[in-house]
Amino acid sequence: MHKKLFIPGPTEVLPEVLAAQTKPMIGHRMKEASELGTSVINKLKKVLDTDQQVIVWTASGSLIMEASIRNSVKKGVLNTICGAFSERWHKMAKANGLPCGAIEVEWGKAITPEMVDAELATGKYDVLCLTHNETSTGVMNPTDAIAEMVRERYPDVLILVDAVSSLTGARINVDKYDVVLTSTQKCVALPPGLSFCTVSDRFLERAKTIEHRGFYTDFLQMKKYIDERGGQTPSTPNLALYNALDFQLDRMLAEGMENRYKRHSDMAERTRSWAKEHFDLFPEQGYESETVTVIANTKGISVADLNKALAERGMALANGYGKKLKEKTFRIAHMGDLQMKDIDELLATIDEILGH
Ligand SMILES: Cc1ncc(COP(=O)(O)O)c(C=O)c1O
Repeated sequence: MHKKLFIPGPTEVLPEVLAAQTKPMIGHRMKEASELGTSVINKLKKVLDTDQQVIVWTASGSLIMEASIRNSVKKGVLNTICGAFSERWHKMAKANGLPCGAIEVEWGKAITPEMVDAELATGKYDVLCLTHNETSTGVMNPTDAIAEMVRERYPDVLILVDAVSSLTGARINVDKYDVVLTSTQKCVALPPGLSFCTVSDRFLERAKTIEHRGFYTDFLQMKKYIDERGGQTPSTPNLALYNALDFQLDRMLAEGMENRYKRHSDMAERTRSWAKEHFDLFPEQGYESETVTVIANTKGISVADLNKALAERGMALANGYGKKLKEKTFRIAHMGDLQMKDIDELLATIDEILGH
């Protein structure tokens, strides 16, 4: 039996979106590939409300994270750790031998402009990495406020934002940042396998001054192919998923982005009020995510058993992330193409299982 996915990725994919992948194959150097690539990039600019360059990568979002630090860090990168995914930025910087430092808060807490200011003041950094929506803790960081402070006080520091579990589900003013990235298997509600990002001109200028940008991870090569070959990519892209993305972007534009953000925030509100009635919220108050609610398991229920019972009824939620949060929290994602009626159905089913 298919389990409807209330996990924070991969998310439910509608049958008609899945079907859009089955169009006949084309050659990746044919004019049809240029048309498809260009169409996707132009629609993404509309969806993200930007004139910045958009780049689509055949990889999951982690690849863009790695590419963006490789293409920008010279002096040092400041990482802002508040959970498992923000920690990934730091691990990547180390794995690439890049000079790096980190500030770290207790899981469940948010990163604030003051914390970032205090560390950037050391003068050790030319790149700052942020995580908009920390999927392991359900914290949505105040990235706009952080960016405003950085632009004013440290204008040469580039700002890279992991928005893997929020972009297209919550409004992000991408023009405030140098890179904002996401993967297709979260709020975009496609199968995994593609990721995309916005990129600023000054990021591309910085990249020109960096000798070893990697091969698959080279932003400048990606940009060159878009410009010179009309929306193509240096390596063979996942054309089947491009077709589904093109189709899904039309659906998003038809829904309207404001409506889409409102639908996400209404589902978040509903989930939070249910959680407060029966359990508690895990994130620090005021920083709760609009796309995934992390619930503190104050009643000590077995989350594994709850998920087994849900599976028998055709649904799945997510246990807490990793050793630290498993069974102590559980996560309900309300992202992508889920509707309020899906959330209502899930919460009513949990109530029935737990005898609320
Ligand atoms: C906030 C965040 N960043 C990064 C990732 C990694 O993304 P991907 O699996 O697409 O590489 C995830 C995946 O869950 C995530 O939630």
